[in-house]
Amino acid sequence: RRILVLHGPNLNLLGLREPQHYGRDTLDDINQRLIQQAKAAGFTLETLQSNAEHVLIERVHAALNDGTAFIIINPAAFTHTSVALRDALAGVKIPFIEVHLSNVHAREPFRQHSYFSDLAQGVICGLGASGYELALAHVLMQMAQTPNP
Ligand code: DQA
Repeated sequence: RRILVLHGPNLNLLGLREPQHYGRDTLDDINQRLIQQAKAAGFTLETLQSNAEHVLIERVHAALNDGTAFIIINPAAFTHTSVALRDALAGVKIPFIEVHLSNVHAREPFRQHSYFSDLAQGVICGLGASGYELALAHVLMQMAQTPNP
């Protein structure tokens, strides 16, 4: 069973992009920590970043047939715009956790609506890169408790 971590648009720029909101870690730093954390618990974790909505949607569809048990997603700007990515997650019915590095509720009003939060198992925002690690800790706990299908 595998865990899929999806990162939306502009997250490839982490490290240089608005560090006051998003911190200094690069996306690769974050991904490597998550891969190690999952591996230590005996699970495979795959990451994908894309600036293209259709690439993320098609990866969600593929998750139906590749043993993905959980998705952790930071939809980035698509959080506030993408009915299509929301519908993909609703369609595959794979449980997911929504993560944001910044506290979107303390920022511009347009960041306060998410097309994902009502479908998510839970939402973590404002804790920086550790938000992903906390989400993964929760996923790993649930996977350890659920016997292999
Ligand atoms: C973000 C918050 C979004 O509003 C923004 O468009 C992003 C990143 C975050 O991680 O804080 O690109 O999802």
